[in-house]
Amino acid sequence: MNNTDLSQNEFLKPSFVDQNFKDFFNRMGPYYNCYPILGQWKNFDELKVDYSKSIVDFFKKNPDAPVSIYVHIPYCAKLCYYCMCRLHVSNNRETINNFVKVLIKEINMFNNLLKENKIVPNIKDIHFGGGTPSHLTVEEISEIIQNLKKFTSIENLAEFSMEIDPRVVEPKNFEKYASMGIDRISFGVQDFDPIVQKKINREQPFELIESLMNNNLNKYFKGVNFDLLYGLPASSQETFSRTIELTKQLSPERITLIKYGHIPKKVKHMKMIKEEDLPDENELPVIFVDSTKKLIEAGYDWVGIDHFAKKTDQLSIAKQKGEVYRNFGGETPGYTKDMISLGPTSTSGFGNYYFQNTYDLKEYRQDVNEGRFPVRRGYLLTRDDIIRREVNFSLQCNQVIKIDAINKKYNIEFKNYFKKRNGFAKKKRR
Ligand SMILES: C[S@@+](CC[C@H](N)C(=O)[O-])C[C@H]1O[C@@H](n2cnc3c(N)ncnc32)[C@H](O)[C@@H]1O
Ligand code: SF4
Repeated sequence: MNNTDLSQNEFLKPSFVDQNFKDFFNRMGPYYNCYPILGQWKNFDELKVDYSKSIVDFFKKNPDAPVSIYVHIPYCAKLCYYCMCRLHVSNNRETINNFVKVLIKEINMFNNLLKENKIVPNIKDIHFGGGTPSHLTVEEISEIIQNLKKFTSIENLAEFSMEIDPRVVEPKNFEKYASMGIDRISFGVQDFDPIVQKKINREQPFELIESLMNNNLNKYFKGVNFDLLYGLPASSQETFSRTIELTKQLSPERITLIKYGHIPKKVKHMKMIKEEDLPDENELPVIFVDSTKKLIEAGYDWVGIDHFAKKTDQLSIAKQKGEVYRNFGGETPGYTKDMISLGPTSTSGFGNYYFQNTYDLKEYRQDVNEGRFPVRRGYLLTRDDIIRREVNFSLQCNQVIKIDAINKKYNIEFKNYFKKRNGFAKKKRR
């Protein structure tokens, strides 16, 4: 058996969007941005792994490994009813600033661990996510970056990106962000329809985003990303196709096109969204296929499952080379495979380890103030997990499984290893 190469174009043929496809599309299933998924990770006490030792062990074994740093800013100015991110709403500057001080302590704990062990990490990219990083003041962002610089050479980064809520950013700050090294920004756009925006408690007229895009952004940044969500209340194929048209008009370098995940039992504030306002499930695959076709016609490359990039963008270039990778934030150009994260709730994945910090801000503060890394959950990957992650990500990111290479690398016989039993690939134990 050689390579399995799936053409994405197959999915875009009109005959493909039949009832089978629609049922398959709407089937609940894991969203793999890590493998195994978060639900399978263990409580930290049960895991019996020392977080600091794992970091040191990883860097000693992989001294040159390119690594990503993710920084989670949990605060938002206002609650969006659809949001499944780990966030806290606050507009109290003192509360937010107190959080920034603790975050800086955590950054310094990490720096001290590196210094004590004479580790000089090869940090290749940084991402500020949340919550809403643009809800911090420029001074707070600058202070965080100054501390990250203790172990990062900002000028050598391949990417330094930050998530921006268009409602809480001052255009004069773009130049300041760029001067601190941030070279990519992502706007949470979601849907341009005013009725949809009202239903999700997020009113941001097209004109607002248009005016932000008219700030010479290409002078400051390598690219802008738009996050789009389809399947929101009061949306339909017709309304969302207008969102796509307006997106094309503003021409961001990258687009993330995600299906709204409605889980009101888990995320209480989603109850603010009325079930009867949600579009028919059968419409969702049609919206996805229709939007994808329109973006491809407009010159975007379809990357992975839910990302689009202009042909000149690094993400598209990585796709041409088969180098796209996936981390907790979605598809990346594959500069790194390992990520260390700071801030509440943030998830790290490096070597054979996964870890997650506490979501609870009180616990987070207490741990950091008492000199402990605020880790609460984790997972130690087996060899089998590593093989499955590689196959899963290769398929998701590059639509190819290099079977011969996998066989050689792991000394397995692919067909036998992934043999189906009762409709499911039986998981091999180590
Ligand atoms: C941290 S937020 C974006 C940054 C910033 N806070 C903003 O809203 O502009 C990251 C993205 O997660 C996506 N997201 C949030 N809730 C979601 C849900 N229920 N289903 C799918 N995607 C969701 C949205 O597209 C959102 O832009
Ligand atoms: S979408 Fe962004 S601004 Fe809205 S609640 Fe979620 S993280 Fe906050």
